[in-house]
Amino acid sequence: MTPTETVSLKLPQLELEAAFRQKARLALMYKLPPERVLWHREHESKADLFAQNSTDLSRSGNSADESTIRVPKTYLELMNAVLCHSDPERFHLLYEALWRLQDDRHLLQNRSSHLITRLETMAKSVRRDCHKMTAFVRFREITDTASESQHSTSPRVFYAWFEPDHWIIERTAPFFANRFGDMNWLIETPKGCARFQEGALSYSNGVEQPVLPEDETSQLWNTYFLNIFNPARLKVKAMQSEMPKKYWRNLPETALIPEMIAKAQNRSEKMQKDAATHPPVRAERIRAMIQQREDAELAIAREQITAGGLAALKHQASSCTRCPLHCNATQTVFGEGPSDAGLMLVGEQPGDHEDLSGRPFVGPAGRLLNDVMGEIGMDRDEIYLTNAVKHFKFAPKGKRRIHKNPGRTEVSHCKWWLEAERAIVKPKGIVALGGIAALALTGRGDAIWKRRGSVERLGDGTPVLITIHPSAILRLAGAESQAARQHLRADLLLAKTLLSGPADEQDLRTGT
Ligand code: URA
Repeated sequence: MTPTETVSLKLPQLELEAAFRQKARLALMYKLPPERVLWHREHESKADLFAQNSTDLSRSGNSADESTIRVPKTYLELMNAVLCHSDPERFHLLYEALWRLQDDRHLLQNRSSHLITRLETMAKSVRRDCHKMTAFVRFREITDTASESQHSTSPRVFYAWFEPDHWIIERTAPFFANRFGDMNWLIETPKGCARFQEGALSYSNGVEQPVLPEDETSQLWNTYFLNIFNPARLKVKAMQSEMPKKYWRNLPETALIPEMIAKAQNRSEKMQKDAATHPPVRAERIRAMIQQREDAELAIAREQITAGGLAALKHQASSCTRCPLHCNATQTVFGEGPSDAGLMLVGEQPGDHEDLSGRPFVGPAGRLLNDVMGEIGMDRDEIYLTNAVKHFKFAPKGKRRIHKNPGRTEVSHCKWWLEAERAIVKPKGIVALGGIAALALTGRGDAIWKRRGSVERLGDGTPVLITIHPSAILRLAGAESQAARQHLRADLLLAKTLLSGPADEQDLRTGT
């Protein structure tokens, strides 16, 4: 039976890496398989039992060739973290990985290897412990006899007690030295202590927790914690996983947690109640910003329009992508008519026929509109005819395309073109055919039957006569259809009459 070799490693942790590397290299050179090496580190639990039997590897007698030893960089990174772990078995596992790496260079990439998974888990636990330490160390001011006796230039010393899971004091101390480089501090833990004095870091063995009096710094932490705590965002599980309970006893602010959790519901309700006055103020500000942007866009468009007129505007609209409707429609159906028309008729959106031909009101609804206009002697060629939405919105059903009402967003995107058309044509009066046209022009979407026949006024004073859409008449039958047709006829006649002379024009403007 081959004898077992015992390798003893000494404190401190900082020197552990070099010591392990050196001893592992020797063990490899002397071709000692993992099962023949017993690792232990002084001061670490029962492994001390083996200290007296430590072996001088160089006297093991086997042949050695250092140049053939393979140590990849990724192994060294893994080793640095794992060496800080508190499991005494870590040396054995690390040596076993190093031993197997000599024959299997892809071992570290092998996710199915139990050994590698275990080492990775250990490294992860060490990194997490370091992270928690950097987050949960709380300094308090103490009177430090050590610094007084060494005639320190700064008499103030800050002290922190922390209980890490692993041997991480040397790994995290540089973080604190960097962060609190302008003060003298001491961090004590059961697994080693770090002192930063006059810019120099030093380490010593772990100690038991000292009994310290209450201090004012804890009050500061409490105030800070109370201020950043948002009861409306309380998630107890997430909080406990971020700040596990084992750290609570050394964090002054955690004494407040049970009470804060108990009061969170009430505080959050109160916050919601108190905040109720703010949203309208914000919404108002947002509305004003949107309005400002729209006004600015319109101002630019107006400049372009004065230069290019309706033709230029129609050309721009032909490539409009302001809303998704352009994706399925055949083309933009822009308004048509004289650029100095006194009356503008605004419909809803192009239908199937209009979408294919590219002209407004050429389908069944257009034919009905033409008929009614003909009956009252209104000349279509003298009117500017357009739609609130310039693309056909539909749902395919077999070979047919079924009309769908445009939504508020589509109406508001397309309003840009309607406003631009209005800015060029400057009609004396407008007729809104149906609810969508009324919404686009006036911003109000109330039921059409309540508003029909009334004149409403736009921001610039232009009167808008609200009436029924021809398509709505087509959907009715019998007497109802006749009555609706009469309404449309009467409303168009009113618009025509009111706009036909200076006095009448005045009437339409006032809505009387
Ligand atoms: N309906 C409308 O609102 N507009 C048209 O152009 C055609 C039908």
